[in-house]
Amino acid sequence: MFHDEGVQVRDAIEFVFNGQLRRLTDFDPNLTVLRYVREHERALGSKEGCAEGDCGACTAVVAELADNGLHYRAVNTCIQFLATLDGKALMTVEHLESDAGLHPVQEAMAESHASQCGFCTPGFVMSMFAGAQNHVPPTRVAIDEMLAGNLCRCTGYTPIIHAAEKALAPASGAQIREADEVLLRQQLQAVSSQEGVSIHSHGKHFIAPATLAELAEILLRAPDATLLAGGTDVGLFVTKKHAALETVVYIGRVAELARIEDTPQGVRLAAAVTYAQASAGLQALYPDMGKLISRIGAVQVRNLGTVVGNIANGSPIGDMPPALIAAGARVVLRRGDATRELPLEAYFIAYGKQDRVPGEFIEALLVPRPDPGGVLKVYKISKRIDQDISSVCGAFNLGFSEEAGERVVKSARICFGGMAGTPLRASQCEAFLVGRVWDEATAEQAAELLSETYQPLNDARASAAYRNRVAGNLLRKFFHETQAADQAPLGVVHGSFQGARR
Ligand code: FAD
Ligand code: FES
Ligand code: FES
Repeated sequence: MFHDEGVQVRDAIEFVFNGQLRRLTDFDPNLTVLRYVREHERALGSKEGCAEGDCGACTAVVAELADNGLHYRAVNTCIQFLATLDGKALMTVEHLESDAGLHPVQEAMAESHASQCGFCTPGFVMSMFAGAQNHVPPTRVAIDEMLAGNLCRCTGYTPIIHAAEKALAPASGAQIREADEVLLRQQLQAVSSQEGVSIHSHGKHFIAPATLAELAEILLRAPDATLLAGGTDVGLFVTKKHAALETVVYIGRVAELARIEDTPQGVRLAAAVTYAQASAGLQALYPDMGKLISRIGAVQVRNLGTVVGNIANGSPIGDMPPALIAAGARVVLRRGDATRELPLEAYFIAYGKQDRVPGEFIEALLVPRPDPGGVLKVYKISKRIDQDISSVCGAFNLGFSEEAGERVVKSARICFGGMAGTPLRASQCEAFLVGRVWDEATAEQAAELLSETYQPLNDARASAAYRNRVAGNLLRKFFHETQAADQAPLGVVHGSFQGARR
């Protein structure tokens, strides 16, 4: 435990639960939203299937005021901590009950025979309810994306997709009525605060500071605290490893860490920016990064998980580091009021070891503008398209110059995930490529070189031989894709991204 003197904090979380205000002071900071709604509110519609963010049975909707708007997000309540609801509104399937009978989304599910045992149904209903609030179009592509985080063992999905087409139709009536939204805004204003929150309970401590300076101060006092961003990794420490987190420091209330800023050098992504929020900005610089983000988890994970969390966790198979390292991203670390910057690849020292000292945290990520005329492409190889961890993730960023009618490699940054104990650049291959004519013979030699560079693992996701073979083939693929006549150099910025400040 540490003292939070001098930090402006309240001793209770305040949030809206299915239209009712809640003020809680005494609960275990490890308590998840799912366990709270089931065990304390006796709202049993949300189900526990996997307890790790994969099946969607626990999906509920979080609403919050931000950027002067009202934002609805489908989230996995099984891996979200209750304390993070402070200042927000939570809607479970019970919220859709009314004297007028079934909600239009429920009606659509019933009419389409989209429920058999019904275990998954509340999760699907809430994903569709969130989709309707966010004006998801009733197209098959959009519905697949919206429901990729919800699994059903009974129906075979076709009836569910038909139900979604009905629920998302413009005149479905699935959206919250204006009068109810006015009330929701008033309730959210009533629970919003400029101050952070600190819960001491059950021998544990949860603290959510409201400013960057307070966060930095708290981490100096509690260097061993568990830093919590979106909780899509940390939540599993509790639900899967059954850890009891003693001290949790939540960054989600720090306004400065919610910012995405468009700078002359590129995009500055602060630590609490989620995938869903970062996607447009990164996509504007590097279209392949937007595609990559759409392959990370499903909507519910992307609504909670942060890009920086994918770096901070130090995982050798995190999808974002290879792409960001290939782009030349830099990481800003803060300890107290001192900050330092380093190339992202330098942050990863060895498996399980990152360049971060006690009390230090990642404040932001700096993603540079692409080199005009360069091409950055990222390839995620996994067994499933959705909701799957990479076997191999390869990122290629080559700059070219025209010399005597030939396309010559001017610069090369190549990075792989899943091939070593850390995301690792292919330095030998990069050195081989620079200065050479970019033709099939060069690509072939470079691909052979790649296949000898790494000593990957054999594991359930892939054998070492497969991984090495894929690494070389991805470079061949990259070569052919840069030859495609319509392949405008991806490095050309298609319109600049105006930073959205939250
Ligand atoms: P948290 O869980 O809050 O934290 C992650 C770790 O980083 C913790 O150790 C935390 O202490 C630390 N941390 C967080 N922020 C900071 C900071 N600012 N400074 C220092 N330390 C910090 N990952 C992939 O790469 N690809 C996938 O396809 C993918 N699919 C997933 C599917 C599911 C169902 C789930 C549950 C997870 C998946 N993930 C995937 C993993 C996870 O979503 C990502 O790693 C995510 O980016 C973690 O971000 P977060 O904000 O949730 O981090
Ligand atoms: Fe499976 Fe939450 S219980 S995603
Ligand atoms: Fe049984 Fe979907 S209806 S799991």
